[in-house]
Amino acid sequence: MKILYAKDYESMSRKAANIISAQVILKPNCVLGLATGSSPIATYRQLIQWYDKGDIDFSACSTVNLDEYCGLPKDNEQSYAYFMYENFFRHINIRMENTNIPDGMNPDADAECRRYNGVIRDLGGIDLQLLGIGHNGHIGFNEPGGAFEKETHCVSLTRQTIEANKRFFDRIEDVPTKAYTMGIKSIMNAKKILLVASGESKSDILYRMATGPIEPGVPASILQLHNDVTVVADEPALKALLANAPEMVSGLPESRKSFSDMAMAMK
Ligand code: F6R
Repeated sequence: MKILYAKDYESMSRKAANIISAQVILKPNCVLGLATGSSPIATYRQLIQWYDKGDIDFSACSTVNLDEYCGLPKDNEQSYAYFMYENFFRHINIRMENTNIPDGMNPDADAECRRYNGVIRDLGGIDLQLLGIGHNGHIGFNEPGGAFEKETHCVSLTRQTIEANKRFFDRIEDVPTKAYTMGIKSIMNAKKILLVASGESKSDILYRMATGPIEPGVPASILQLHNDVTVVADEPALKALLANAPEMVSGLPESRKSFSDMAMAMK
């Protein structure tokens, strides 16, 4: 696992966008796995800017999103389909028929999960999967305690996740309680993984993800077993790693490096 330092959210987003951009340039017909949430918003914004300048072309790309709430139609402002359209797809030249998101309105969970696994398989798998991380270590909506060997499945969201997501809804009762999500197995099958994290509230979980035991209690800890994971995190999110395992963080500026050397020497 490579962990890259970024000074702040904007710099984290530029670095992440650079990695995605390189993927699209090297393989124009690549399959991008995408995420929603606050963490990747400025990454998408940066990619849109480069697209506007003519530096990146999404016309041959396909996308598969990690997850979708059950019971929200695509035109509901809180659905992940709406999020992706508003924050990314409508600004670039991706063909909408090449974008894929679980259908939250399909009441037949087994059929929907089977369909979505088939979509990923028929595309030949995911070249680069973008992830955020939940405060409890979830990736996608794979909550603590879930099995590592699952592909797309239907989950009940934990109280903590519902609490974290209520900021997007008028009332907590409006937050859906179920979602379709790619499973850990689907994520681990991606050829490359890029995880973005910002803010001090992610510091402890990033530390546990990167250094702790690999256990279902911290779903993201499984990423230690993937052979091509890049984490791009800003300084607040790296607080615990910089204090306790600074040698794991690459790309520190010179001023920060001497500070980490000191921390290591004092250990
Ligand atoms: C989003 C997703 C979630 C988020 C995670 C972090 O598609 O699957 O796992 O990545 O909840 O969310 P933010 O970025 O809002 O902190």
